[in-house]
Amino acid sequence: MTHPHLPTLSELLRQDLDFICGNLTEEFDRMAGKSLLITGGAGFLGYYLVQAALHFNATSGRDQPIRVTVWDSFIRGTPTWLTQLSGTPHLTLEQRDLILLLPERMPDLDWIIHAAGIASPPFYRKHPLKTIDANINGLRNLLEYSVRQSDRGKPLEGFLFYSSSEIYGDPTADSIPTPETYRGLVSCTGPRACYDESKRFGETLCVVFAQQHGIPTRMARPFNNYGPGLKITDRRVISDFAREVIAGHDIVMYSDGKPTRTFCYSADAITGYYKVLVNGHAGEPYNIGTETPEISMADLARKTIQIGRDLFNYRGRFVSRPNPEEDYLVDNPNRRCPNIDKARSHLGYRPAIDLDEGLRRSLVWYHHNPEAAEL
Ligand SMILES: NC(=O)c1ccc[n+]([C@@H]2O[C@H](COP(=O)([O-])OP(=O)(O)OC[C@H]3O[C@@H](n4cnc5c(N)ncnc54)[C@H](O)[C@@H]3O)[C@@H](O)[C@H]2O)c1
Repeated sequence: MTHPHLPTLSELLRQDLDFICGNLTEEFDRMAGKSLLITGGAGFLGYYLVQAALHFNATSGRDQPIRVTVWDSFIRGTPTWLTQLSGTPHLTLEQRDLILLLPERMPDLDWIIHAAGIASPPFYRKHPLKTIDANINGLRNLLEYSVRQSDRGKPLEGFLFYSSSEIYGDPTADSIPTPETYRGLVSCTGPRACYDESKRFGETLCVVFAQQHGIPTRMARPFNNYGPGLKITDRRVISDFAREVIAGHDIVMYSDGKPTRTFCYSADAITGYYKVLVNGHAGEPYNIGTETPEISMADLARKTIQIGRDLFNYRGRFVSRPNPEEDYLVDNPNRRCPNIDKARSHLGYRPAIDLDEGLRRSLVWYHHNPEAAEL
């Protein structure tokens, strides 16, 4: 039996989108009447990046909408939610591989969010060159395009590159919580290097283009986001746990359960990303995540089980098993926890959705979402 007061999918989305737009009134007002390109818009973070801008258009009462263009290679198919949005006013969807050179001339853009990339560890270990290409060549193509547009007298207002908290590697104990000034402890040859090192070099490109060409690049370093839009098959920890809860299976732990993380619900994270895009300092990185609780994977599993019990009368247990993938835990950081003072003081970023509430909302989303049933 499920909980009698579960929100419907549309109630849940409406609440999250109202929350995001309510926290971005100034930022979206600045973007109104302008054009926004979101690369990788078919992905997890694209889910709320795209829908938040469209929600602003539909609910703000402004007669100047944000004109949203989504580019994605749809390498893992076109998600149903995006297909359902096609035909929405002021939204253009295009299949495009960012690795290929962009046309010399394109419509002028005011804001660019480069979120295209391969983000899930099992997928980037499988496709290391494609991972490097999206973070380096794809980024370079967009930056060169921004210079050409600037040379035509149409400078961009903001360019956001998705870096990662992985650029810190496995920080030393005295660098946790980790501030942006920490330089990282990263292997350049290990199985995660294709991701970590290409994010690091991507940041270098952003700094160089800001300094040499005046492109208003800003970098976001996300710390473990989760929530609606994250595919249940994506092999990230919370979607893995959710998959077992929805299927009524036990939650399997493939490590000793000791590594710790902090988790940031997507509605909070997306609020942060738009703040970085609009108000971040050029050529600078911002940690986006939550500082508490720093929770072990074993405790996260226990918490998810408890919330699954409350919501759906879930009866699964927590079991440990060795992982069949040899590289699964190589270079896996023991602790990851951000210091978000910089985003708080420069941008007014204040994440507000706690882990219990975020997990509850995520499980409800997986429960309602048809893609969640494709196990
Ligand atoms: N979600 C997180 O917690 C997190 C953490 C750190 C960094 N990031 C970064 O944020 C960005 C977005 O992450 P996400 O979780 O939404 O990832 P995702 O895998 O869900 O989505 C990425 C999208 O990019 C598209 N894509 C991949 N290669 C492409 C290419 N060459 N050309 C065009 N499109 C391409 C994919 O089709 C997909 O739709 C990524 O760069 C990721 O590395 C995310």
